[in-house]
Amino acid sequence: MRLNGKVAVITGGAGGMGRSTVLRFLAEGAKVLIADFNADQGAQTMAMAADAGYAENCRFIKTDVADETHVKAMFECAADNFSRVDIVFNNAGVGGVIGPIWDVEESEWDYTFDVLAKGVFFGIKHGARALRAHGTGGAIINTASVAGLSGGCGPLVYSAAKAAVVNMTKGASVQLSADRIRVNCVCPGFILTGLTQSPKRTPEEAAKHMDGMQPWPDHGTGDDIAGTVVFLASDDAKFITGESIVVDGGLTAIGPDLWQRFGQPYEATMTKNRLTKGTTGERNTVRDVKD
Ligand SMILES: NC(=O)c1ccc[n+]([C@@H]2O[C@H](COP(=O)([O-])OP(=O)(O)OC[C@H]3O[C@@H](n4cnc5c(N)ncnc54)[C@H](O)[C@@H]3O)[C@@H](O)[C@H]2O)c1
Repeated sequence: MRLNGKVAVITGGAGGMGRSTVLRFLAEGAKVLIADFNADQGAQTMAMAADAGYAENCRFIKTDVADETHVKAMFECAADNFSRVDIVFNNAGVGGVIGPIWDVEESEWDYTFDVLAKGVFFGIKHGARALRAHGTGGAIINTASVAGLSGGCGPLVYSAAKAAVVNMTKGASVQLSADRIRVNCVCPGFILTGLTQSPKRTPEEAAKHMDGMQPWPDHGTGDDIAGTVVFLASDDAKFITGESIVVDGGLTAIGPDLWQRFGQPYEATMTKNRLTKGTTGERNTVRDVKD
């Protein structure tokens, strides 16, 4: 077990990739405090943890990550129940405001940034206090997004907030290295969760909508993110800090997908092999792909 005896605080742990990570952390031997706004989903996740035999190792606290008093209370709750904190996963999130920038209201910007960026700031700030107080290092992992890495992968305000998370991760990693506290983030691509179903898609409709979104044939799942977070939290990643790990089935690897823009779907470019010689004056050759 890679996280044996470690204590983790996981925000947004009641649903989606947070829930997957809670269950995976428990299976890896960690004790987990789930901190989430949605108490009903929190109760469901607690029941799943109990069914898997981890009732004693799991607690829930209703938390709004955008409220600093809640975030403080979350770390106090972890210390009260499990006497220490080793790992913080700042993962809670919402889609926030989606629309043209000239129409976004200040309150909509504030809500989006409060949850996605200020929530992570509070999580790192109070997480760092908890880890430093203990003095034995630790790991902080934040959920950013591929949306934070370019202009075309998500809503504008959401993407700006996730870019802030990527940068905050780097800055915090520098400040906390001396305390042996590693800070990294994960940048998911399209992942099948409640978020990608909302506001009104069924899981099946969401899955269909996401078909072919990335080069990898399967859909991304919460377990794909959980596995990456376990790695980043574990000693296997003990020399990794300030890093953003993209988990997206090749969505960003394909870049602007110029073949598609040139009217040649990628698959069509896979049937012939062309040796082009540019402006050398020599002839190009074309042949069929052998097998
Ligand atoms: N699903 C995707 O495709 C995708 C892609 C990239 C990044 N992300 C990010 O991954 C993270 C998890 O998303 P998910 O897909 O699992 O979504 P989800 O909706 O399934 O789960 C998000 C959880 O966060 C909780 N939450 C929301 N606001 C909160 C607040 N203010 N305080 C505390 N808890 C709050 C929700 O109650 C929910 O349980 C988010 O930060 C999201 O932006 C998701």
